[in-house]
Amino acid sequence: MKSVIIGAGTYSEVYLAFLQEAGVNIAGFLDDDEKYSGKDVQGVPVWGTTAILPQLKDLYGVEAVYCPIGSNKTRVHFLEMARDFGYKTPNFIHHTVIIAPHVTIADEGVYILQATQVMPFVTIEKDVMISAGSNIIHHCHLSQGTFISNGVNFGAFAKAEKFAYIGMGATVMTGVKVIGEDALIGAGAVVVKDVPASAIMAGVPAKVLKFKEN
Ligand SMILES: CC(C)(COP(=O)(O)OP(=O)(O)OC[C@H]1O[C@@H](n2cnc3c(N)ncnc32)[C@H](O)[C@@H]1OP(=O)(O)O)[C@@H](O)C(=O)NCCC(=O)NCCS
Repeated sequence: MKSVIIGAGTYSEVYLAFLQEAGVNIAGFLDDDEKYSGKDVQGVPVWGTTAILPQLKDLYGVEAVYCPIGSNKTRVHFLEMARDFGYKTPNFIHHTVIIAPHVTIADEGVYILQATQVMPFVTIEKDVMISAGSNIIHHCHLSQGTFISNGVNFGAFAKAEKFAYIGMGATVMTGVKVIGEDALIGAGAVVVKDVPASAIMAGVPAKVLKFKEN
């Protein structure tokens, strides 16, 4: 199945490597930053901006879209746009990921990288991105468009609301019930209590630095 990656930056280059390793046919890239136009990523051409997304099926026979962009709202925006145009948005779950029984994973737009472990009774909604080497502890819930960075411990029974972003190596301790919508947890933080929506928290224990201005 011919596929395109939206985003031509370094993280997409990493995903290209993993997707190609898994046998996915990535035929091209799109990026709204004109600096990538006409360039290539590891020999795969950047066809242009997302303005041409609706035509990719006719132009190149593309059927599927991947969008491994770390910005949650941007990723979800493009994945929903792709689905609206009739493209598939398949999951990519690296073959080394350990998924326990009784885990529910949506079948659209979920990306999980190497050596992450997902324990029983976890729910992962669509468009969730989990980087390498994280532990997703039992009975937790990752809502649509959340991002779990590498080396995170995400505690039992915690719920990450839509667009929550957990930075590198952070721990969300079991006992925390909610990481609010669009909250951002800094690298290395230890979250010991619930996080309000749009809060930026960091430190050990994590404290609110500020709130995002929406
Ligand atoms: C927490 C974070 C969002 C703050 O970014 P910011 O709003 O630009 O804030 P600043 O860098 O201006 O720092 C503000 C203060 O918080 C401190 N701080 C920043 N990040 C921190 C962190 N992770 N832990 C503890 N303190 C942190 C800074 O030292 C600074 O303190 P000061 O005011 O005493 O000098 C950011 O540093 C961070 O950790 N982002 C996550 C990055 C990540 O993991 N990305 C994953 C890529 S795969």
